[in-house]
Amino acid sequence: MPATTALVNTAAWLPPKHAALEVRSAPYTRPGPDEIVVDNRALAVNPLEWMIQVAGNLMYPWLKQPFILGSDVAGEVVEIGSSVTRFAVGDRVIGHAVGTDKDSNSSARGAFQRYAIVFERLATPIPSSMPFADAVVLPLALSTAACGLFLKDQLALEYPTADPTPTGKTLLVWGGSTSVGSNAIQLAVAAGYDVISTASPRNFDYVTGLGATRVFDYRSPSVVGDIVAALTGRTVAGAIAIGKGSADPCADILGESTGNRFIAIATPAVSFERLADVSGPNLELPRILARLVSSSVALQLKTRRKGIRSKFIWGSDLKKTELGAVIYENFLPSAIADGRFVAAPKPLIVGHGLESIQAGLDAQRKGVSARKVVITL
Ligand SMILES: NC(=O)c1ccc[n+]([C@@H]2O[C@H](COP(=O)([O-])OP(=O)(O)OC[C@H]3O[C@@H](n4cnc5c(N)ncnc54)[C@H](OP(=O)(O)O)[C@@H]3O)[C@@H](O)[C@H]2O)c1
Repeated sequence: MPATTALVNTAAWLPPKHAALEVRSAPYTRPGPDEIVVDNRALAVNPLEWMIQVAGNLMYPWLKQPFILGSDVAGEVVEIGSSVTRFAVGDRVIGHAVGTDKDSNSSARGAFQRYAIVFERLATPIPSSMPFADAVVLPLALSTAACGLFLKDQLALEYPTADPTPTGKTLLVWGGSTSVGSNAIQLAVAAGYDVISTASPRNFDYVTGLGATRVFDYRSPSVVGDIVAALTGRTVAGAIAIGKGSADPCADILGESTGNRFIAIATPAVSFERLADVSGPNLELPRILARLVSSSVALQLKTRRKGIRSKFIWGSDLKKTELGAVIYENFLPSAIADGRFVAAPKPLIVGHGLESIQAGLDAQRKGVSARKVVITL
């Protein structure tokens, strides 16, 4: 009998009816052949998780509560699957947990627990000098940025390398101070693209520090014209739209620019903040659904008129293609170790222990600026 069967697992469960997370025991599940089990030392919180808590039936109808959410894990490997070659027990890793995906639909594969399962191809070793709480900001945001930039049915950019050849093309990253944007900027630069981005002025230095050459205030009434002017004479590689309402200005900008008229869209067409009271009935839901339909139709009409294609990003789609290995196996380990790729944004540690995850969801829902909500374990 392997020693791991003696491991006692605990999780923060999402109960039925949008209630607050409940911390209680969970089974320890052994990994499949291409999976590893991580003893979590830090977890990060994404908008996805509180959105599922308040609107799960709409967005992820296949999830049946009680369920264990969570995408970002950092910790030590405690067990490896039979075909795993890149990791050994005791390795320090980060990983993208995909338990909420329809083809996974597995609480054992959610991040919000002591022992979580991740695919070997969605995990990366981290240096001993790198705190788990710093490294855990990466996985879902990194995967989402990579899917938008590199998948063949998205922007299909060149892959990132240690020594990129300049492509002479410029990528628009709308929302450069978001977690997804912080990764998109770094990945695009590592793939040889010039990056123009947007953020609040207080984050301009942060965004240029990640590699963007120009940053514009997305709240400025002249932002579209200013970016169109900055792109004059350049060949555009397309846009990744991150943040509420971001696809619309990206369409206006690409409509006036030369190059790849494609928008990879990270943010859902409507926001769910008004569903924030997890204890009450979601009376807003029908209105949100109606807004979702009308804003999607309006965007489609606009992009078609301007000859622009767009596609919503599914942040874990890289697991089905070679891109998972390109990012997590070929690019990231040395890029992190050499300091060519930084774990950004910095963690905002809201608490310690699984009991703090609900506070993390609440903090992320209230909004952060160039920070990632993290819980240490
Ligand atoms: N499709 C997927 O698979 C997937 C996966 C992950 C995330 N997402 C989505 O991607 C978006 C970003 O997620 P995240 O975790 O990276 O967010 P986040 O880090 O929590 O975003 C916070 C940042 O959003 C910026 N922001 C707010 N409104 C904005 C707007 N209208 N335009 C541009 N930036 C804006 C703020 O910038 P300033 O402080 O500089 O103002 C702040 O720094 C969310 O909508 C999320 O739902 C999608």
